[in-house]
Amino acid sequence: MKEFQGKIALVTGTTGIGRAVALHLARQGASVAVLGIDVAANAALQDLGVAEALALVVLHADVSVPDEVHVAMSTAIARFGGLDIIVNSAAVHPYGTAETTSFEAFMRCMAVNVGSIHLTAEFGVPEMRKRGGGVIVNLSSVQGHACQSGVSAYVASKGAIHALTRAMALDFAADRIRVVSISPGSVRTPILELAARTFEGPEADIESVFQRFGAAHPLGRIGEPEEVAALAAFLASDKAGFITGSDHRIDGGLTAGIGVR
Ligand SMILES: NC(=O)c1ccc[n+]([C@@H]2O[C@H](COP(=O)([O-])OP(=O)(O)OC[C@H]3O[C@@H](n4cnc5c(N)ncnc54)[C@H](O)[C@@H]3O)[C@@H](O)[C@H]2O)c1
Repeated sequence: MKEFQGKIALVTGTTGIGRAVALHLARQGASVAVLGIDVAANAALQDLGVAEALALVVLHADVSVPDEVHVAMSTAIARFGGLDIIVNSAAVHPYGTAETTSFEAFMRCMAVNVGSIHLTAEFGVPEMRKRGGGVIVNLSSVQGHACQSGVSAYVASKGAIHALTRAMALDFAADRIRVVSISPGSVRTPILELAARTFEGPEADIESVFQRFGAAHPLGRIGEPEEVAALAAFLASDKAGFITGSDHRIDGGLTAGIGVR
C-alpha cells in the first residue's frame, strides 16, 4: 500500500516546494488540494495531476484572505471528505530594510507568510479533530534562525513561524494534532531565482548564481525541492508520531557553524 493512501492533505503554493510536496503526497496515495495564486502555475500543476491520474485538485486562492481560504478549504474538504495534513508553503519574499520596506509590504508579507498559517489552522483544525488528529507542517527558513541583511520583513515572518509553530503544537497536542516547521537553506525554486535576479540583475545567469549560493553551504550545493518534500512527507507521516513543536533544518550545513576551511 502507498504510504499516504486514505490521507487527505492541503498544501499552499503551486510552485517550488509546495508543488513538490503536493506531488510527493499525491504520488504516495493521498488526496491533495493545493491552494495557489499563480494562475499559470496552478494550471500547470493541475494538468500534471490529470496526466498522472492523481487525486490532486488545484484551487485558486489568496492565502492571506480569510474568505478565499475558507471557500477553497470548504471545497476541498467537501470533495475529499475531511482533512489530515496541512503543509503551509506559500510565501512572498520582499527585499528591503525597515527603512526601505513600505509598511504595506511588511504587513502583506506577514499576512501571506504567517497569517495564512493561522487561517489554514482556523478552518482546518476542527476538521482534523473530527478525524482524531492530524499534522501541520509550516515552511519557515534558515532566515528565521540567523539572517541576511536587507530582508527584514521576510526574516520577521520566518521567526514568527517558528514561534507560531511552537504555540500551535502546545494548543493542539491534546487533539493529537502535531505541528512542526521546516527551515530550508537555499533551494532551487522561483523564490531563489528572484534572489538571483535581485542581486545580479534581470539578465543574471541563474545556474552560475545558484552555484555560488551553493558554495556558501558546507555540502557545496543548493537543495532540491524534492529533498524538502521528502522531509515534509516524513514529518507528516506516522513515522514522525512523537515529533511536535520542533523546527527541522534542511540546509546543507549552512547554519551548523561559522564556515568551512
Ligand atoms: N527556495 C528557497 O531557497 C527557500 C529557502 C528557505 C525557505 N523557503 C520557503 O519555502 C516555502 C516555499 O517557497 P519556494 O521556495 O517553493 O518558492 P516559490 O516562490 O516557488 O513558492 C511560493 C509560492 O507561494 C505562492 N504565493 C505567494 N503569495 C501567495 C498568496 N497570497 N496566496 C497564495 N499563494 C501565494 C506563490 O505563487 C508560489 O507558488 C516558502 O515559505 C519559502 O519562504 C524557501
